[in-house]
Amino acid sequence: MRAGLLLAAGLVLAGASAPGTPGVYDAEQAHVDYMLKCQGCHRPDGSGDEQSSPPLHDMVARFLTVPGGREFLGRVPGVATANLDDRRLANLLNWTLYRFDPAHVPTGFRPYTAEELRTLRQDPLRLDRVAMRARLVAGFAR
Ligand code: HEC
Repeated sequence: MRAGLLLAAGLVLAGASAPGTPGVYDAEQAHVDYMLKCQGCHRPDGSGDEQSSPPLHDMVARFLTVPGGREFLGRVPGVATANLDDRRLANLLNWTLYRFDPAHVPTGFRPYTAEELRTLRQDPLRLDRVAMRARLVAGFAR
């Protein structure tokens, strides 16, 4: 019953949010998934915190501008190990980019697909992610 209501509400909202965002087949689903799986760390507004979770706001799409950044976004543990199927994860990651950092999404960006994330998440980053992240961030344009 509750799931049915949520679904109905989601359909109404998704219908209202045209024109769509590239690679986002269901914006309302993405928002709910973000609330349930991501915002505890990254905060509802994507601001993160200074200690543990990085901001997504005005930041996350910059990774798409440096070599290796696209793969990094699919392999960070918060993304790669999320309890979502590949299609829903692609929907969520594409939504995250446009929701929090549309200004840095490069022209000609190809949205993540379920197939791409299936491959990337098979190889989640572990301790190496800290150094990799620092190297990528150092390459961002100022
Ligand atoms: C337990 C806290 C936590 C959760 C939950 C979490 N993240 Fe993260 N996220 C992090 C941390 C910490 C990093 C920095 C890289 C690292 O050390 O894993 C990060 C990095 C990222 C990055 C790469 C950008 C960057 O600045 O490093 C993206 C994209 C991202 N998270 C998205 C998500 C999404 C989408 C979800 C929900 C499916 C999620 N995260 C859930 C803590 C979290």
